[in-house]
Amino acid sequence: MASNIESETFLAQKKMSDEVKADLAKNPEKYLMLTGDRPTGRLHLGHYFGTIRERVRLQDAGITTRIVIADYQVITDRDSTEHIADNVENMVIDYLACGIDPQKTIIFTHSAIPALNQLMLPFLSLVSEAELLRNPTVKAEQEASGHALTGLLLTYPVHQACDILFCKGNIVPVGKDQLPHIEQTRLIARRFNERYAPVFPEPVGLLTESVEIPGLDGRKMSKSYGNAIALSATAEETAKLIKKSQTDSERFITFDREGRPGVSALLTTAALTSGRSEEDIAAEIGNDGSGALKKLVTEAVNDYLAPIRARREELAADRGYIHDVLADGNARARAIAEETLAEVCEAMGMVY
Ligand code: TRP
Repeated sequence: MASNIESETFLAQKKMSDEVKADLAKNPEKYLMLTGDRPTGRLHLGHYFGTIRERVRLQDAGITTRIVIADYQVITDRDSTEHIADNVENMVIDYLACGIDPQKTIIFTHSAIPALNQLMLPFLSLVSEAELLRNPTVKAEQEASGHALTGLLLTYPVHQACDILFCKGNIVPVGKDQLPHIEQTRLIARRFNERYAPVFPEPVGLLTESVEIPGLDGRKMSKSYGNAIALSATAEETAKLIKKSQTDSERFITFDREGRPGVSALLTTAALTSGRSEEDIAAEIGNDGSGALKKLVTEAVNDYLAPIRARREELAADRGYIHDVLADGNARARAIAEETLAEVCEAMGMVY
């Protein structure tokens, strides 16, 4: 990670992550987790196995948990907020259906928390243009989007620091690609504390062991690739998507991620959702070919998601409740943000 924005290496971050992991079960009350998602579409199996399951685990282990639905991040690299209200609502439904408990976990949106967004001003003064431009994830996202680098995309890691620090989050479950952001947050916390007064913790990125479930074509699972199985899809839609996924002309089924990305993605999907190993499933299918494999995958996925989907349907029928959950989360997050902002103003001498 030579291109990492700061001097702390990946190994140092990994070490912090391991130390926290070892301590989590012993001292859950010491930890506050903040994480979030952009409401650009429905959550899919990639989100579920990648992070949602882990969040529920942390929540149920007694760790204080908060989730931001990052609505301002939607416009970092796109020109419209089309469907945003629908996406936000469905994201709440997906969370609850997966086991996020709104009593324990505060769910909120950026746009409803003015005091969180106001932290952006002092925080921006703590980072240089060069530091912003050096963030490898920002660059990658800008290239992938095909849009010009907007001011908001350039500075969104600072906005993420606001998300984490407004509630004094000290752990953030992340994949490796998000580590530069955590590093930027740590830097901002450290500089604020040194320059003014010790207000913020330096959060640690928790490197999740979560398995990465590939999309149906073997690439990263993403709605924009059309290779994602949404939690909200029906059993029939799921069957159709799996049926039209690309395999190869080799009949005999083997697990070979590099050589046979399509077949292997199907095997991993079946493995994760059935609790078996890829090799075991490949051996069972053997010469029966990809048709039989697809049938097995479809059943495994639909069985696995059935309870989540049933719960999803119940929740979706009660929009008033979903609205209340979000209104309550927003009110609780606002109170926390206002308290932190007051501390920040005090530390800066801006009390008039
Ligand atoms: N950038 C994250 C994503 O795209 C979402 C997010 C917003 C986030 N704010 C955060 C994640 C703070 C961790 C911490 O999925």
